[in-house]
Amino acid sequence: MVIVEGVPAYLYLDEEYIAHHLGRRQRGYGRGGRQQIERDHAHIQTGVRHGYTLGSPIGMLIENRDWVNWQEAMAVDRIRPGHADLPGAMKYGFHDVRNSLERASARETAARVAAGAVAMKLLEEFGIKLHSHVLSIGRVKANPPDQGAIDWDAVEESPVHCADSDVADQMMAEVDAAREAGDTVGGVVEVIAEGVPIGLGSHVHWDRKIDAKISQALMSINAVKAVSIGEGWDLLDRWGSEFQDVIEPWQRKTNRAGGTEGGMTSGTPLVARFVIKPIATLHNPLPSVDLDTGEPVQAHFERSDVCQAPPAGVIGEAMMALVLADAFMEKFGGDSIPETKRNFEGYQATVGPRLRYS
Ligand SMILES: Cc1cc2nc3c(=O)[nH]c(=O)nc-3n(C[C@H](O)[C@H](O)[C@H](O)COP(=O)(O)O)c2cc1C
Repeated sequence: MVIVEGVPAYLYLDEEYIAHHLGRRQRGYGRGGRQQIERDHAHIQTGVRHGYTLGSPIGMLIENRDWVNWQEAMAVDRIRPGHADLPGAMKYGFHDVRNSLERASARETAARVAAGAVAMKLLEEFGIKLHSHVLSIGRVKANPPDQGAIDWDAVEESPVHCADSDVADQMMAEVDAAREAGDTVGGVVEVIAEGVPIGLGSHVHWDRKIDAKISQALMSINAVKAVSIGEGWDLLDRWGSEFQDVIEPWQRKTNRAGGTEGGMTSGTPLVARFVIKPIATLHNPLPSVDLDTGEPVQAHFERSDVCQAPPAGVIGEAMMALVLADAFMEKFGGDSIPETKRNFEGYQATVGPRLRYS
């Protein structure tokens, strides 16, 4: 069950829109058998009437058909390094790691994508669009066009969700090589929100800084190990004059800071990158111990992805959308879309025409 609170009334919301994003999460080169089990669908249970939100919490139900497989047998005691197995078993006193491993599974990100789709729908009402693309898989790096020139339809078609069609085959070969070796690969993913108004977030509350909130949200995705706002990872070898986005009479020609300054959105697209580690479940398992006996064993293996970078972008979009929708409603408020629009348009009339990003 997914519950989304804080959505104003009169937002048009249908299950197909949410299903579209759930479907995007299930695709991608390198995914394993889990995705063959079912096509995710979020059944709207509450908060929507005749296609429009009511302002009350929106409840959505996503079935998990795999659940029946794990009810009795299939106990796991050969803990996997890099998963939630060992700390989960110790923390809760479990002897069957199944209890932790299923709950820590990225299966839960289906719920995030459903909630994120609601947030995206709200943001779209105000001209904000989110995208993502894969920057690298294993040792293969993309050389994507400038952000404004990316063909997002082509990215959607790409099996590796990559904006550089020249390296897509190499990325797939990297996934194949890892699979053949019984191994896994990770990658780097970029998430972009376009059309974000200036001034979301806060420079006066540490816990409302928009860059901090986005980092936390992206870092919370299973297997994410590093987050960068804009070109943050590249700035170590740059001087100040090479990094800041110069302000010309009401426009910026660069967006190295990734759309935030002082914890607030700056009016340029929001850009965040994250590293997703290679998956911990290896066909060629790593050394570990038996949870009950403490004897050395090979870690447990079961059906698993080889690379999860392509779907991780879709989850990243959802997480960024949730943070942005929150910050947006905090600034503009309102109980219905028309009321929020009045507030938004009143603010944009004072700042909007003065800002451009080219
Ligand atoms: C989209 C997605 C799919 C994943 N698929 C798998 C998988 O098939 N097998 C696996 O062992 N881990 C998979 N993971 C990673 C684990 O969920 C994650 O490593 C685990 O929860 C431990 O968390 P940590 O790596 O953040 O410490 C996936 C992660 C994501 C984002």
